[in-house]
Amino acid sequence: MPLPAQDNAPSAAELMDDLMWGRTPIGGPFDLIDQTGRRRTDADFRGKLLLLYFGYTYCPDVCPTDLMAIAAAVDQLGPAGEEIQPLFITIDPERDNVEQLAGYVGAFHPRLIGLTGTAEQIRKAALGYKVFYARVPAPDGTDYAIDHTSFIYLVGRDGKYLGFFPPDTPAERLVEIVRQHL
Ligand code: NI
Repeated sequence: MPLPAQDNAPSAAELMDDLMWGRTPIGGPFDLIDQTGRRRTDADFRGKLLLLYFGYTYCPDVCPTDLMAIAAAVDQLGPAGEEIQPLFITIDPERDNVEQLAGYVGAFHPRLIGLTGTAEQIRKAALGYKVFYARVPAPDGTDYAIDHTSFIYLVGRDGKYLGFFPPDTPAERLVEIVRQHL
């Protein structure tokens, strides 16, 4: 069973309900460091549509698949893709430091920005978007995976949350929805 990050952490079901039914506001500010070591806040991205994803670089399958879809969508939009900023926020700041992110994001898209921070900064950003994440220890105790919700969020030019896509959304579907906001 996944271990909750903290005793008072909301459960996966609670976060899912918040997101699905919009019971509480979704999104909000973040204050993080990118893969070049530069401080980035949500305010830096005003004027761009954000495709925002929370995951971790050691993720074996879901994160790479979704990041490839995001990258493909940005490219399929052609010149209009310049109005999109793809963002990857790690939920594994312990392993995903600046150097680790630098070696990861470029493999997906030259404009993909990776963001990390302290555990508390990451927790704040993730909770804003109702992201559940919890470590799952490996059987031999030497390593861990992270169980996490993997939605792709669309955020407007004003920084306000617009909606989310489920995991495994194909690039074509991302393009279809994003176009409506260009
Ligand atoms: Ni993942």
